[in-house]
Amino acid sequence: MSMNRQELITLIEQGKRFLESQKRLGIEWIGFRWDAAAGKSKAEILEPIRFKALACRACTLAKERRSVVWGEGSLDAPVVFVGEGPGRDEDEQGRPFVGRAGELLNKMIKAMGFQREQVYIANIVKCRPPMNRVPEPDEVAACHPFLEAQLTVIQPKVICALGRTAANNLLGIDAPMGMLRGRVFEWRGIPMVATFHPAYLLRNPSAKTDAWKDLQKVMNILGMKK
Ligand code: URA
Repeated sequence: MSMNRQELITLIEQGKRFLESQKRLGIEWIGFRWDAAAGKSKAEILEPIRFKALACRACTLAKERRSVVWGEGSLDAPVVFVGEGPGRDEDEQGRPFVGRAGELLNKMIKAMGFQREQVYIANIVKCRPPMNRVPEPDEVAACHPFLEAQLTVIQPKVICALGRTAANNLLGIDAPMGMLRGRVFEWRGIPMVATFHPAYLLRNPSAKTDAWKDLQKVMNILGMKK
């Protein structure tokens, strides 16, 4: 892959910002090994970062939240599902995808041959945007180090982005769903597949056939039989 000078500068700046954000969360990198990780389990690395999230007041979403919805699942998950942000049910319970969209996500996970506990589920923002609006860029930016830490530590074999907000924010682009689906992207070397958000599928059940194709792509990457 050849890069022009501007692309190279952008890449270096992104890398610098990533390392700085990880450092703020207490993750020290040496080369591409995190020093703090030496001898520590994934849970031991993530737990202090989760505590920082629980106390986070970096954006205005902190004002109205009832919970910080950190995420849940196996830290050895082969696949991490990334949604947009907590809704009312999630804000009340402090867990991701527990409302109606969550019920559908559970079915999608089961259809793939997993139990919910075997995968990991997180969101772009950890606090509920008022009226379930799409999170603002400054809110996404404030929360991004937490998701970066989760994905970096878990190192899934594949990331499944649920909806346009999740996919675009992971990739740092602004593309329509039509361009995001049906392709395998990469997030820091980890394959990433985008599919419809379960809430969209509840409103548009006919899109479920396409969503299943996306999930099959995820299963393919995992080398699972369909
Ligand atoms: N929608 C999301 O994007 N995330 C949740 O956790 C719940 C609903």
